[in-house]
Amino acid sequence: MCGIVGYIGYRRVLPVLLDGLKRLEYRGYDSAGVAWPEKQKIMRIRAKGKLNMLEEALEDFRGTKTTIGLGHTRWATHGEPTEGNAHPHADCTGELVVVHNGIIENYYSLREELKKEGHVFSSETDTEVIAHLIEKYLEDDLEIAVSKALERVEGAYALGVLWLKQPDILIAARKQSPLVIGLAERECFMASDIPALLPYTNKVIFLEDGQMAALKGDSLELKSISDRKPLNKSIQEIKWDASMAEKAGFKHFMLKEIYEQPDAILNTYRGRIIPEKGQIKFDEINLDKDAIGRIKRIVLLACGTSWHAGLVGKYWIEKWAKIPVEVELASEFRYKELLIDNDYLTVPISQSGETADTLAGLRIAKELGSYIISICNVLGSTITRESDGTVYTHAGPEIGVASTKAFTSQLTALYLLALYLAQELGKLSSREIGEKLEGLMTVPSIIKERLPAWHESAKVLADKYYSYSDFLYLGRNLQFPIALEGALKLKEISYIHAEGYAAGEMKHGPIALIDRNMPVVALCPQDHVYEKMVSNIEEVRSRRGIVISVGVEGDEGLERISNEIITVSKVADDINPFIFTIPLQLIAYEIALARGCDVDQPRNLAKSVTVE
Ligand code: G6P
Repeated sequence: MCGIVGYIGYRRVLPVLLDGLKRLEYRGYDSAGVAWPEKQKIMRIRAKGKLNMLEEALEDFRGTKTTIGLGHTRWATHGEPTEGNAHPHADCTGELVVVHNGIIENYYSLREELKKEGHVFSSETDTEVIAHLIEKYLEDDLEIAVSKALERVEGAYALGVLWLKQPDILIAARKQSPLVIGLAERECFMASDIPALLPYTNKVIFLEDGQMAALKGDSLELKSISDRKPLNKSIQEIKWDASMAEKAGFKHFMLKEIYEQPDAILNTYRGRIIPEKGQIKFDEINLDKDAIGRIKRIVLLACGTSWHAGLVGKYWIEKWAKIPVEVELASEFRYKELLIDNDYLTVPISQSGETADTLAGLRIAKELGSYIISICNVLGSTITRESDGTVYTHAGPEIGVASTKAFTSQLTALYLLALYLAQELGKLSSREIGEKLEGLMTVPSIIKERLPAWHESAKVLADKYYSYSDFLYLGRNLQFPIALEGALKLKEISYIHAEGYAAGEMKHGPIALIDRNMPVVALCPQDHVYEKMVSNIEEVRSRRGIVISVGVEGDEGLERISNEIITVSKVADDINPFIFTIPLQLIAYEIALARGCDVDQPRNLAKSVTVE
């Protein structure tokens, strides 16, 4: 949700800002802008649309030598995506500019107050009040004015502020929206997320809520917003490198990330398992056997694709560790009556570690006494910092808005967590655990080997079915969440209406929709509910629905009753979710391409949803 980037140092600022914005464009892409001081004034260039529109608008400024500035890519909340509403926003003098990610909840009353005092507003955004509010308190020290202004502001913000009269300092501040500072020799960066910093540095400071930073080329001061008392800096080193956040020859990030799944899965289990001993190591969750024994219930808490991973995780945990699991949509969880206490383990699942609803749910569960172990991909993100322990997925940066490798690496983490709980509770023998680990270890090579064939099949299917307007995805048991995920992928990036359904529920509603215009994607592994799935497929056929099956190779019976079939290898039942997911990702990708959709940046969506 909006990407901020700021730079102060010795490089020409515009290429740094544009490069950073490109790496953050997944956070918002309806408009973008930059600002920098030059010839005694603040230059502010903004453009509606994708970043290339801003690049075009900046053509005439290529020669700019300035080495300080701010940039922003927007995901609209208050005010339409127009040039006038694009950031940076300025005060009345045009000498002070602000970029912002978040929502200012009391913006209306502040705006009215400021208007009465003579401030003139030129946008419909909540952000602009911050610029005017800082202007109100500004005498000769930007830092003091920012801190006074922020005392009045309610809501969430990550901010970057620049003032013409102090052109050797950038101010960053944070409350509830992510902001990370990058440190290198004679230069400082700020950004909403790590990928923007990777070409320049891997030394970072994650700002905490209530902190502000004064960035100078050769130094950085960290302070508390409320009293401006200096704070200690905790510098962390990021292991990702810049090439991980690039397309590496793939047409889209999504496709690259689909192909990266064998490595993402392997990296997530590597170092955590000893298959020959049938053992899992999970020191990072900081829970001993007794503590695990006291867990009466587990809440898996997430949004979007991460929630689907949680639905799969429930099957594994309940089956192996025998602990009851609830899988909660964080946006619902946070506003309902909860029965949580300290016998509960809460597991927020989040790729970004910044999703506002998941974070809010975590805080509520913690408040009620629950122990928190998060599953997260981004090192140092807010959710990881507020958890008692974190199981990191090692998927590397995920840039495509539609989550792919983060999902399968979350599945990996949940698979391990379920087995680990079973191990500590003595619910499975080490032989059984060893077998399940052996099964997991086959996944990367199976996916790697089959990817090209699945991709080809997906292209053929896309060619035939891209113009259909509705799809139904059906699965049972472990494949039900995968059906939900397949449908979500399709609707996210191709804008086709798609629904995922538990196949057995079809007769309670969706069957009424089925006719020859309704392709039905049926997930049909040869597991204990195979026969039931086959019956559901027959029901679709007898209503002239088009059956696109994903099934086990050599399954002639399934082939006979399907209009189309993509085949997968026969694996242990519990491994199927990993395998069945990938063809569905590729189908969505190819259909979106065939429809001419912007795969990496689908309309109205943002990767990291840091507002409610
Ligand atoms: C957004 C993204 C999804 C993601 C969801 C949860 O909707 O577009 O891909 O699954 O947020 O994000 P998280 O970072 O918490 O996993």
